[in-house]
Amino acid sequence: MSLELKGKTAIVTGASRGIGKALACTAAGLGINLVIGARNLGPLKETAEEIAGKFKVEVLPVACDVTKLGDLENLVKSAKDKFGKIDILINNAGVSSQYPFQEQPIEDFERLAHTNYLGYVRLIRLVINDMIKNKSGAIINMVSGSTLCDPLPRNFIVYSSLKVGLRAFSKGLFWELRDHGIKVTSILPGVTDTDLTGKLQEITSDASRLMTTEAIENAVRFALTVPANVCPLEIAVINQQTPWTAPVIPFKQQHPGK
Ligand SMILES: NC(=O)c1ccc[n+]([C@@H]2O[C@H](COP(=O)([O-])OP(=O)(O)OC[C@H]3O[C@@H](n4cnc5c(N)ncnc54)[C@H](OP(=O)(O)O)[C@@H]3O)[C@@H](O)[C@H]2O)c1
Repeated sequence: MSLELKGKTAIVTGASRGIGKALACTAAGLGINLVIGARNLGPLKETAEEIAGKFKVEVLPVACDVTKLGDLENLVKSAKDKFGKIDILINNAGVSSQYPFQEQPIEDFERLAHTNYLGYVRLIRLVINDMIKNKSGAIINMVSGSTLCDPLPRNFIVYSSLKVGLRAFSKGLFWELRDHGIKVTSILPGVTDTDLTGKLQEITSDASRLMTTEAIENAVRFALTVPANVCPLEIAVINQQTPWTAPVIPFKQQHPGK
């Protein structure tokens, strides 16, 4: 990936809100044209209009459920039809589920696996051969800070173990693709204030434990703007207050001020 990002094209999944929307804005701020995907076209269109109005870039919203192969194929085709090629993929769409394992609805497993793991791998497979042909490209995968914990955070073991798999895949891909001039970076965010965490108990009981998307935006901007012969393999942006670090870092699970 060259340093010149203006006029490049990025796909951002899960871009209608939360971290994905913030990262779409980050990319737009760098002059990158966007193809943004999410399941619900209404909010996605609103986001596209908002970004296009704020930054001087083109933004194409495409309804896409990352659990469906046909939708992913359509996303890639739409991007190529509109912009010719895809230079950057920000794989971000994700869902969460917090349960003691024995209570977790059995249908959650397939939904989590198809969204948070398979959706990422399939979309990369669909864009990668063009990137290899172009000897250039950048792939950013939204992993999770929970993958740093061993044992994994209680009540998040299905979500987190799929993110562990994604992280391992992403690292392996880094090595496979570096000789083709393609960069692969995993972002490991801590607990961030989005709709996704809004549904979680325990963590959100104290809002000061949540971080904004700002540090994640900075991390992705960093990954996209390092010199051409450098690739950050992983960037962990850990929330200082997250109770998840308790298994690895002695922490009272209390706000230090209390
Ligand atoms: N928030 C955190 O604390 C945190 C921490 C670590 C990692 N992460 C990861 O960061 C990513 C973004 O999370 P977030 O907190 O920004 O979540 P969010 O606020 O809930 O936003 C999720 C986005 O993904 C889209 N989406 C969900 N399922 C989809 C599907 N099947 N196909 C296409 N799009 C889909 C949603 O739009 P639609 O509903 O319209 O599809 C929305 O745009 C996820 O991968 C998550 O695991 C988040």
